[in-house]
Amino acid sequence: MFCKRIVSVLALTTGILAATPVTSADGLIFNVLLANQATAGGPFDLAVRLNEYNPLIGFPTYLDFYVGVDSNSPKLVGNLESGVIYSQGIGPNGEPYNDTYTLYINLQEDLGNTTLYTTGFGNITADATFLDNGWQLTPSGGDATSYELVHSQPDGILSGWRLCVADFDSEYGPWSNLQYVTYTGTPEEYPYCEDVTVQTTVTS
Ligand SMILES: *[C@@H]1O[C@H](CO)[C@@H](O)[C@H](O)[C@H]1NC(C)=O
Ligand SMILES: *[C@@H]1O[C@H](CO)[C@@H](O)[C@H](O)[C@H]1NC(C)=O
Ligand SMILES: *[C@@H]1O[C@H](CO)[C@@H](O)[C@H](O)[C@H]1NC(C)=O
Repeated sequence: MFCKRIVSVLALTTGILAATPVTSADGLIFNVLLANQATAGGPFDLAVRLNEYNPLIGFPTYLDFYVGVDSNSPKLVGNLESGVIYSQGIGPNGEPYNDTYTLYINLQEDLGNTTLYTTGFGNITADATFLDNGWQLTPSGGDATSYELVHSQPDGILSGWRLCVADFDSEYGPWSNLQYVTYTGTPEEYPYCEDVTVQTTVTS
């Protein structure tokens, strides 16, 4: 999982944006594609992992979930509606996700021109600041049904995804967290992270 490549190939350029992004779609399963599937494996389905840490620091149980690759957690099923990704389906303890949890990014670390964000699903009934309507699916490859998950950014800011061997919340089993990265110029590289794309299939 040690990687020195830069994420610029994942950059959200105006060229990609011009190609009709999708802002609404139903029943989405997301695949994480590593740049080198041959040696590193994959694709992997994204999963929704309970943030076990929250109750320990005084936040309500099920306030939010991590998003990443985790064979012990339920698969992420998403519903994109007007730029918001709602989680669909059933959580680890049988709680329905529908309409309650939305995909959000949360500032993790700011390092020069590179900003790292964790990715999760937050309960918007409990905390409305989880709501983020900046998500889009942009056509990827020459395939009419393949789309890439991107977040809108101000002009001149590039962005991409990384999959990182999680160094937090790992006492409940190993997993990899999905990290969102924005940058200008050359992004900072991190050990134990791999540049990835997040793709889904839209069939309507
Ligand atoms: C959640 O959404 C899915 C897909 O639309 C639907 O099949 C399911 O019945 C919904 N569950 C609840 C609890 O609303
Ligand atoms: C979401 O938050 C609301 C308000 O705090 C709470 O009533 C509800 O039980 C939470 N949903 C889940 C699935 O925990
Ligand atoms: C950081 O951004 C500034 C302004 O965009 C640019 O001049 C500089 O080259 C960048 N540094 C790196 C390391 O990319």
